[in-house]
Amino acid sequence: MGRGAIVRLVLFGVVLGLGATAVALFIPWLPDQASKQGERIDFVFWFTTAICIAIFAVVASVAVYSVIKFRVPPDDDSDGLPIHGHTGIEIVWTVVPFLLVTAIGVVSAVALAQNDDLPDNHMVVNVVGRQFTWQFLYPPADAPEAAKDELECDAKEVARSCLSSAQLHLPLDVPVYLRMRADDVLHSFWVPEFRQKQDLVPGQVTTLVITPTKVGKYEVLCTELCGLGHSVMRAAAIVSSRADFDTWKAGIEKQAAGGGKGGKAVFASNGCASCHTLTAAGAKGTVGPNLDELPQAAKTAGKPLEAFVRQSIVEPDAYVAKGFSKGVMLKTFATLPKEQLDALVQYLVDSTKGGGSR
Ligand code: CUA
Repeated sequence: MGRGAIVRLVLFGVVLGLGATAVALFIPWLPDQASKQGERIDFVFWFTTAICIAIFAVVASVAVYSVIKFRVPPDDDSDGLPIHGHTGIEIVWTVVPFLLVTAIGVVSAVALAQNDDLPDNHMVVNVVGRQFTWQFLYPPADAPEAAKDELECDAKEVARSCLSSAQLHLPLDVPVYLRMRADDVLHSFWVPEFRQKQDLVPGQVTTLVITPTKVGKYEVLCTELCGLGHSVMRAAAIVSSRADFDTWKAGIEKQAAGGGKGGKAVFASNGCASCHTLTAAGAKGTVGPNLDELPQAAKTAGKPLEAFVRQSIVEPDAYVAKGFSKGVMLKTFATLPKEQLDALVQYLVDSTKGGGSR
């Protein structure tokens, strides 16, 4: 190969490589980055991308060069010369990819190991996934360590002082240890801005460490097809300053202790809003029946409103509204503590009474 050919190959390689680099850098491919673990994931992403661009530049420059240099006239149908092996080239194209893939493997393994690292000053949050809601439970700081496949808030003594929320609130720069479980089928926890992703499995506790680095409101997505309401199985992840977080926490502590507004809190913290519409709570879900129409439904079922509401929560398949299916609503609400269930029933009765035709 002459010097001219090498110069041209290198030139093509540089131009194509720069083009690919521009595409990689100037198009915003990734969502915002809002966690320490995300920084490491992004490093692996860019490390791999850089290698890909280098390989692309080499392959594309040879291809473009060959298309120009070895072009035959349109009426030339003859075959090219047969090609024999070239041991030198074969060694190069085996060893170089081997080294690159090994490097990607090592860099990924180190990043993932660092991302699993749990600093001592962490905070624990229990995450429960159900068709089709998220529940976030905050055990007290002094809660005893839970067994391997149990959540802190499963323990009876702890459960009473666990705070429950349908949104994931996190303080800035505090490592949070998510201990997660599904109550029915597989779900998967993902906040794109945090990058970390983890399945929730019934009967098992899976974990994830996240250290939020940016104040903001992000979306928690379920990324495991889990049934009819999979696409609406979302919640907010709200990262705020430590002071704002403490204010929020004190607020729900008060709400949990207070009696009168208790039902509304139970409605909110159990994620009812993600499946049901209820004007009084500002809920707009459409997976399940519209709760504003409870009085009419009770009438159709031939039951007094309060008894009907209670039955529909603890025994959802006893009466299924027209247009909906059995087995979609969870039966686990039967295990709500009695005071919470009473408060929820009262709240639903009170907030729909006015709207119903009776
Ligand atoms: Cu839960 Cu998809």
